[in-house]
Amino acid sequence: MNHPPRIYLIGPMGAGKSTVGRRLADALGLPFEDSDRYIVERTGVDIPTIFDIEGEAGFRKREHDAIRTLTEREELVLATGGGVVTTPANRDLLGARGIVVYLYTPVETQLARTGKDRNRPLLQTEDPRARLEALMVERDPLYRAIADIIIDTRGGTVKSVARRVLKALEEPAGQETQP
Ligand code: S3P
Repeated sequence: MNHPPRIYLIGPMGAGKSTVGRRLADALGLPFEDSDRYIVERTGVDIPTIFDIEGEAGFRKREHDAIRTLTEREELVLATGGGVVTTPANRDLLGARGIVVYLYTPVETQLARTGKDRNRPLLQTEDPRARLEALMVERDPLYRAIADIIIDTRGGTVKSVARRVLKALEEPAGQETQP
């Protein structure tokens, strides 16, 4: 195997982490997991229900447990939830255990991709744009702090973004252009 066996995709809601991740895993012959799906499978309820019953703090705790377990896998392409980097211990685990790929996606593109999504509690607000902008201000530096590779997904298809990640993984320094 001439590629890293643990690849962790980070970035905001609507970045395409799951679709790109699945495609990357196929191309690399690695297993794929999505930490949100993993949590849903374990709890038997959807993400909005977890937020309703346990609040965001309860969800973050479950998310951290998922990240701790999933980063122990020897081989994995992992798509994470957009808020994964808000827990410092998650940043430590992801940064230490694998190659971290930040799918940079500006708010305009996120809005177009998330539309009227009912499955993302943080977007059930009067003004999703303002919410996404505030999250980006808070989280973009956290994504960058642990990223080995940064890919600008603007205007890209799932196929082209996956191809660019694959190319960046082949580079010795592992870095693409800084968006
Ligand atoms: C969240 C993003 C979601 C999910 C949860 C919270 C966030 O994942 O983990 O709704 O804090 O940005 P996606 O990034 O896959 O939408």
